[in-house]
Amino acid sequence: MKPETYLTLDGSKTLYSKEFGEHYHSKNGAFTESQHIFIDLGFKSIDKHGISILEIGYGTGLNAIMTYKSNEVNPKKIFYHGIEKFPISSETFKNMGYIEYFNLTDQESKMFSENWNKPHSISKNFIVLKQNIDFNDFVPQKAYDLIYFDAFSPDTQAEMWSYENLKKILTKLSTDGVFVTYCSRGDLKRNLRALGMNIKRHSGPPGKRHVIRATKQ
Ligand SMILES: C[S@@+](CC[C@H](N)C(=O)[O-])C[C@H]1O[C@@H](n2cnc3c(N)ncnc32)[C@H](O)[C@@H]1O
Repeated sequence: MKPETYLTLDGSKTLYSKEFGEHYHSKNGAFTESQHIFIDLGFKSIDKHGISILEIGYGTGLNAIMTYKSNEVNPKKIFYHGIEKFPISSETFKNMGYIEYFNLTDQESKMFSENWNKPHSISKNFIVLKQNIDFNDFVPQKAYDLIYFDAFSPDTQAEMWSYENLKKILTKLSTDGVFVTYCSRGDLKRNLRALGMNIKRHSGPPGKRHVIRATKQ
């Protein structure tokens, strides 16, 4: 079932999945949410010259595009690996308005939305690999410095947030690596702690009291 576009309160668009009954981003602002949780608490906090990023739930590609744009300020070498079971169509991607807002060239927008399962060098500093796979079947092969955990909520997809699924990716997180997510539920925090993560609760974007940033000790 094709997700529908939805206009959020900051003027940016997201998608609504009828199948899962959830929006891809906060209804209070897709750009605002992505910037606050993934870019400001996640990406900007990593002080390394080369950063390997894993995103669970690539969706529209917004977090990837915002990371790409943030990296233009003080460029680092980025490897961005997005995991997605249900890639959106090129037509849906074009309807999001991200191409115009972020001033993406044809080449850039294609690399963020088409030709899955192959790494693409979008610039000399940014490689994106969008992998079309069920996260439950994904076996990470390499190490990551940063994890964007952006699955649908545990109420809708509990298995995505299971201890085993968290374990397999956190095992591959480098020491001092960072895990960020919009969810701050107690059972998630307990699992993260049991997996050796140091958790800090941060205030969330509009409409969300708290979000989580966890570091590997
Ligand atoms: C909250 S949305 C992600 C939003 C996305 N980060 C963005 O910026 O647009 C959750 C995503 O997880 C994907 N998804 C659902 N089940 C999945 C699964 N089993 N494996 C991988 N991805 C899945 C959905 O298709 C959706 O794109």
